[in-house]
Amino acid sequence: MQPAQQEPVTQDIDALLAESLAAITATEDEAALRDLEVKLLGKKGAVTELLKGMKHVAPADRPAFGARLTEARAAVEGAIATRRATLEEARVAALCEDPSFDATLPAPRPNATRNGALHPLTRVTDHIEEVFRAMGFMLLDYPEIDTEFNNFDALNIPAAHPARDMQDTFWLAQRPGETGPRRLLRTHTSTGQVRTMRAFAPPFRAIFPGRVFRYESTDASHEHTFHQVEGLMVARHTSVANLVYSMKTLLSEIFEREVTVRLRPGFFPFVEPGFELDIRCQVCGGDGCSVCKHSGWVELLPCGLVHPNVLRHGGLDPAEWQGWAFGLGLSRLVMMKYQIEDIRHLLGGDLRFNTQFRRG
Ligand code: PHE
Repeated sequence: MQPAQQEPVTQDIDALLAESLAAITATEDEAALRDLEVKLLGKKGAVTELLKGMKHVAPADRPAFGARLTEARAAVEGAIATRRATLEEARVAALCEDPSFDATLPAPRPNATRNGALHPLTRVTDHIEEVFRAMGFMLLDYPEIDTEFNNFDALNIPAAHPARDMQDTFWLAQRPGETGPRRLLRTHTSTGQVRTMRAFAPPFRAIFPGRVFRYESTDASHEHTFHQVEGLMVARHTSVANLVYSMKTLLSEIFEREVTVRLRPGFFPFVEPGFELDIRCQVCGGDGCSVCKHSGWVELLPCGLVHPNVLRHGGLDPAEWQGWAFGLGLSRLVMMKYQIEDIRHLLGGDLRFNTQFRRG
């Protein structure tokens, strides 16, 4: 049989307090102090138990009992905090006395794989921006969702033009009752060409890097989402020679050496004449691999002189103004530079890939 519950009295509190303070002062290290703290103040601690006994105290005595208990609890907490500080100080002092302790050792490094790193696409974009800024180009940014007009019509690709089939497009659904221009995920950064002509008075030079989208199946060299850098120069007199010079400057800066290029005719409705500037595959050195589709060459830089119809859409008189444009395949350039054999690594989000590009 359980003994009848005794009515606790304030003397019990005094006794416990005296006992607790003595025990606290007697602790020899922080771990022992922590254990004692739980025994006194924890959910089943001695002080807590006394508090639970309150219900057995005669109602008239409760205020005095409660006040005393609160006081005692505060005293115990204070004594623990003081003892803890003393013990910690002693521990640190002892550490400093230890002859093998070397205060000049570096702190442990955080786990290296957790360090942030710039994505290779970001790094190469930054580099390209630097090169073109040095040549007097503005850096512009245009939306990834754009109109059918900016993506196609403005670029001399009307609705019925077969060239629309060159780029399979993600169209945005029209909401019921929605009118106005059809919208799409831009298939190329060329959407910025007419926008730039309308926004700036020529002569000007600009680049606009960004993400573009094509509705197509993926393989080692195709992704539905990839990156381009568009370049556009408009002046009274400019030529293919200016274009080729700028491209060579860019490529030798990026690869930090001369790279072999070739220029061949290429058809794009918004340039005339139009070219494909290819570079020797830097992954296989020209022997043939999955990136260059076993040809030894990689299409990297479609370009050409701006078509008169595009100048007109931009509000410029083709008799007065000339221009050239390029649409650098940034994803491919990054693959060439870092010898990445599959474009799907770039946006795959696999940390084992991304962490290889840490600086240093
Ligand atoms: N926008 C074209 C493409 O993505 C490339 C291009 C840009 C061609 C500028 C010529 C001039 O295919």
